[in-house]
Amino acid sequence: MTDLATQLAAACSAAFVAEGLEARWGAVKQSDRPELADFQCNGCMGAAKQAGMNPRELAAKIAPRIAAHDAVDRVDVAGPGFLNITVGAEALAKQAGFIANDPRAGGGAAPDPENVIVDFGGPNVAKPMHVGHIRSAVIGDTLVRLLRFLGDKVTGDVHLGDWGLQMGLLIIAVMDEQPDLIYFDAGQSGPYPSDPPVTMDDLSRLYPMASARSKDNAAYAKRAQDAVAEMQAGRPGYRALLQHFIDVSVTALKVDYGFLDVAFDLWKGESDVDPLIAPMIEALKSDGYATEDDGAWIIDIARDGENVEAVGKDGQPRLKNPMPPFMLVNSRGATGYHATDLATIKDRMETIDPDRILYVVDQRQALHFEQVFRAADKVGYISQDRLEHLGFGTVNGTDGKPFKTREGGTLRLSDLNAMALEEATKRIGEAGLSGDIDAVEKARIGELVARAALRFADLQNQRTTNYVFDLERFTSFEGKTGPYLLYAAVRIKAILRRAAEEGKSAGEIAIDAPEERKLVLALDGFALALRLAREKRMPHYVCEHVYTLAQAFSAFYSACPILKEDVPAATRASRLGLCQAVLHQLEAGLGILGITAPERM
Ligand code: ARG
Repeated sequence: MTDLATQLAAACSAAFVAEGLEARWGAVKQSDRPELADFQCNGCMGAAKQAGMNPRELAAKIAPRIAAHDAVDRVDVAGPGFLNITVGAEALAKQAGFIANDPRAGGGAAPDPENVIVDFGGPNVAKPMHVGHIRSAVIGDTLVRLLRFLGDKVTGDVHLGDWGLQMGLLIIAVMDEQPDLIYFDAGQSGPYPSDPPVTMDDLSRLYPMASARSKDNAAYAKRAQDAVAEMQAGRPGYRALLQHFIDVSVTALKVDYGFLDVAFDLWKGESDVDPLIAPMIEALKSDGYATEDDGAWIIDIARDGENVEAVGKDGQPRLKNPMPPFMLVNSRGATGYHATDLATIKDRMETIDPDRILYVVDQRQALHFEQVFRAADKVGYISQDRLEHLGFGTVNGTDGKPFKTREGGTLRLSDLNAMALEEATKRIGEAGLSGDIDAVEKARIGELVARAALRFADLQNQRTTNYVFDLERFTSFEGKTGPYLLYAAVRIKAILRRAAEEGKSAGEIAIDAPEERKLVLALDGFALALRLAREKRMPHYVCEHVYTLAQAFSAFYSACPILKEDVPAATRASRLGLCQAVLHQLEAGLGILGITAPERM
């Protein structure tokens, strides 16, 4: 069974076809004027225009065909030829019953399930995650959950940054502090100690120090570059250190991601494709894809109309539509971000053979991905239309600039998580919630509220826009927030628990009050929300839906008593059934968003 909107669209399309017109005119959506009807079809105007007919006359022919559908109570023709469709109470009741029992809570399924890799997170070893990393983590994790929910086969890969200059900086920083470590003895080739010589605190202290020093000390920077080159060339002591840095970082990363309930199937990194890089370069050279350019090896990815020589206003030559080449090996003989990403695609094609790879990475890397995708397509690994860069905007402060702490530094994700926890705990106290709950459960509730606040605040924005970081607003129990949604779910749980205690159970659903009708129509919108979210890779559709549903529930709950003494048993059983359907779908939707509601709070 599908959602009512889809059922009605099928009926409308068939009606147009029966009149000798195209099926596409039969698109149906929920009514813009809910006081007039539940659904509407606007196809008559376009279809009539194309066929040279009168739209109202056409609508008058289509209407009875739609009205014949079981679910439909009434079809009115309005204005120039709108079809306003009202569904019957029984159809609504049936739909609610279906949603209550459907494993996907009425969310539907992907019509074309695919094997998808989602590349997200992308933290860099040794660089602590900051507020900007929350976006890739939360959006990527949500897309993984969404696609999986709808039936796609999904592999989430963190793609650690563990191959770049930061590793060289760390190596020399550790060397300067602990020069006697075995890792720096060029005559040694292991075995090396299994305990790491540094802690995460050491790494967090050393990396910014080394990074800053390299900026104004050319000799230091050169040492770091040489160290990376040696590491990449396979110097055993440096490789052993790299592994320690990765292990120490991953342990810390898992804590921060865990707080947000973000998970990865693969913890691979750039360094994992190192063995593939040399043979890949050889093959690309011998196949003629890689060409030499000023001592570097590049892949020419420019297309017609790009890199056109032109003359600027100042009379100087300049390039129109510049598209820099794909840098396979630079003039110093080193490989970098381009090469690791291309080799990673090759690796993924060989090991997972995905239909599609999604990259959830800051919009500012758009050019990089355009280059990588073109190169991968050109050399025949995968066609470009199967590679998607899903960019996102930045997290800003109230000044509209990327968020900074009061001291002007970047806010670490671990500190951000801690702040959210503190704020959430405060809010729970203020709201007078969790009064008689013990300390352990209270702490757990605080975490769930903090997570809901952060995730929902991020996901509710259209992916590509920036948003302003405002913990106070995010953690509020009122408004369009994660905590509000948790509160809604917890309230339904409380109703169902009380009903069970009183020996009252859910029964057959019957739809009577207008708020009940609206509630079922809200439930019916889940499938469309998930479809749009999947098609556009935009989690905010799911956020919109759960929020609408929670509001519809709220209106229903204030208008329709459930457990009061004077409510007839059949009505009560029906309303409890509605509560179950709503809770089931709300938890499914929140689950996709990575938000878990506690049993009580
Ligand atoms: N580590 C990279 C960064 O911090 C992000 C990695 C994104 N994924 C990728 N396949 N390039 O910018």
